[in-house]
Amino acid sequence: MSWIITETRQLDEKASDRLGNKFLVGNGYIGYRGTLEEHAKERKTATIAAGLYDQAGEGLWREPVNLPNGGFLELVYQGRPLRAHAGPVEEHSQSLDLRHAVHERMTVFTAEDGNRITLRAKRFVSATRRHLFCAQYVVETSRDCELIIHTGIDGDVWDLNGPHLRDFITAVDDPLISISARTGEKGIPVSVCEYFVCPGRNHVFLTEERRILREFLLQTRAGQPYTLVKFAAIHTGVDTPDPPAAGRSLCWEAIRTGFDALLKDHRQYWEARWTDCDLQILGDSRAQLALRFSLYHLLAIAPVETDTVSIPARGLSGQVYKGGIFWDTEIFMLPFFAHEFPEIARNLLMYRFRTLEGARRKAREYGYRGAFYAWESQDTGDDACTLYNITDIHTGRPMRTYFRDKQIHISADIPYAIGEYFSITGDDSLLLEGGAEVVYECARFFLSYLHYSPDRKQYEFLDVTGPDEYHERVHNNAYTNWMAAHTFALCLRVAAHLQKHHPAPAKALLQKLGFRKDLEAIRKTVRKIYQPAADPRTSVIPQFDGYLQLEDPPLAELLRLRSDPREYLGGGNGLASNTQILKQADVILALCLFPERFARETVSANWEYYEPRTEQGSSLSACSYSIAAAGIGKLAEAYEFFMTAASLDLDGDPKQYVGPLYIGGTHPAASGGAWMAAVSGLCGIRWSGKLLTIDPRLPAPWSEVRLPLLIRGDRLQIVITRKDVTLRPMQPLQHKVRVRIRRKVRTLPRQGTLTVEYGAPEWRS
Ligand code: BGC
Repeated sequence: MSWIITETRQLDEKASDRLGNKFLVGNGYIGYRGTLEEHAKERKTATIAAGLYDQAGEGLWREPVNLPNGGFLELVYQGRPLRAHAGPVEEHSQSLDLRHAVHERMTVFTAEDGNRITLRAKRFVSATRRHLFCAQYVVETSRDCELIIHTGIDGDVWDLNGPHLRDFITAVDDPLISISARTGEKGIPVSVCEYFVCPGRNHVFLTEERRILREFLLQTRAGQPYTLVKFAAIHTGVDTPDPPAAGRSLCWEAIRTGFDALLKDHRQYWEARWTDCDLQILGDSRAQLALRFSLYHLLAIAPVETDTVSIPARGLSGQVYKGGIFWDTEIFMLPFFAHEFPEIARNLLMYRFRTLEGARRKAREYGYRGAFYAWESQDTGDDACTLYNITDIHTGRPMRTYFRDKQIHISADIPYAIGEYFSITGDDSLLLEGGAEVVYECARFFLSYLHYSPDRKQYEFLDVTGPDEYHERVHNNAYTNWMAAHTFALCLRVAAHLQKHHPAPAKALLQKLGFRKDLEAIRKTVRKIYQPAADPRTSVIPQFDGYLQLEDPPLAELLRLRSDPREYLGGGNGLASNTQILKQADVILALCLFPERFARETVSANWEYYEPRTEQGSSLSACSYSIAAAGIGKLAEAYEFFMTAASLDLDGDPKQYVGPLYIGGTHPAASGGAWMAAVSGLCGIRWSGKLLTIDPRLPAPWSEVRLPLLIRGDRLQIVITRKDVTLRPMQPLQHKVRVRIRRKVRTLPRQGTLTVEYGAPEWRS
């Protein structure tokens, strides 16, 4: 149950843009948008390979390359191409089996002469052969007729800042056809090679500069199904020295293996993945489907076989946000991976080590030391974020934004995630293989950024932008200051850990980086960082210096002042800039990241203060409000924010434009946030590094939750009912696990189960 999503809606262009995201199939290497077989660039078809970027020319944004579409297929009847969106169509549906990552479509076209032509198509990008796209089609007509089938590779692709490919070569090497090309900026070769099998006759090739198709004539008998199969191999020079040769050889391997066996392998792989991470919600099929949908999207884009790429803010759904990797990955996706697939979490963090040089370059560029990570990171770690990152909707002029220059918290978010990874997995090899270097260099960056305030007699971070992007260039953003202080503390802990457990590499690293003096400075500074505290009267923590003195209009009133719904609220003249209206969780996020530091009253006061002032203008925001709400007993709100995060790309209404800029695509941070909201919010599960706390606050419809969770290599099955919590190690425990339920701490038995009763908190809605 709750594994299949289906859509039968009419396919206007706006709907089809969203379906392209929702029905994406991916395997961590390729993301293939959920458009229809007959779609072309107008309908935003895209095949994105992780890690391949290109800049089409001076002044244009560097972004992922949309590769030639090897999944193209159209039926032509009586000279007319059959297109679901153009009709007439008697029946149409698109569905995605989340459990097996297989997309299906079924359309019954009705021709003028009354002939009903049915196309069923099934597609997946193989999880066991990551360069391979596989599809199977079944065609049936209600009358005997002649159908033409066009199938092949469409290299005339949708681009936001293209074109990215040049030197196209179309080739026929029967039974294979291919397109190879090179990227414009670096000349990286790419190739898509297609194989197609069809019972039809009169097979001819149609070639244009950027397209190569085969045309088949299929003589159908009424009511008889005809099965066709396609394989497309997708390679780029980033990971293969000779993409065309690799494509040919993979197609031949697919031919030998056959569609059914490939599908079987793929399905088995996905089933095993789900066994390791499926969070079952009994009693609420809507929430179950939304959460599985979220986890599906995370699994579909997570790098499994490489640590040279990470997950971009829009996943592999297109070129939006320049395919940049933001803090989204470390803060909102990493907890899921660290607790369910630590090897993927490790890959994501190793990517930051692989791009450390880019972060060092950026720090130098701004006159700092250490590592200042890119706000939008690509293959080299250099910042793809431009200084004018938004266009004014009214004047059409680019607006100066300070995301790149001032969101220094990125260099604290990455160390935070490294600390979490270590605490959750207990694996210190990441520290030895680059993690410690990243933490040290980030700490060094903050050391060079801070200012001493003689008045406060503390160190401050001035001129920064916190997570709330509507307030740029502020002083002492609470989130930034706490996170920077955490980076210092972590740096000292890492140094002590390495010194104790790995003295020789510890010494070598300090020497290599010339870090001893810095470490000493960090030791002296760590307790003297100004960390904005709660007002003793109201318990509200000011988001930054002077925040509480800004104008304080109700959000609805401010939004009414917009002259265009796409108007940007931040920046120099933004409507929100001199008010207390914020874009997204900022203080509230910090409260979630440091749960042990704040009393429930403080969280409550801040939730009540900030929630009405938050536009929820970023998909990253809802999960923090959910987690914090759960902690203070606002269960209805916690549930609602959880559902917002989990269903954003399923049936939500995410922002599609900022100014005239298209920002559509999938929202993996919301997906990861949904998992966090379910696990740490509604189930109340937190791992502190030493103690597992379980304080469930199940929403009323949830009768039971079951989830697997890895803690320092031990896999636990946790079952929470409305009455009790049961923990069961899946294998005998290798480490001692202490659990706190209802304020009492117990040690989990090495084998067997532990069941503890708790009283379910009351649900108000
Ligand atoms: C948010 C950022 C986020 C980025 C990518 C922006 O709208 O304000 O916090 O990192 O989107 O998701």
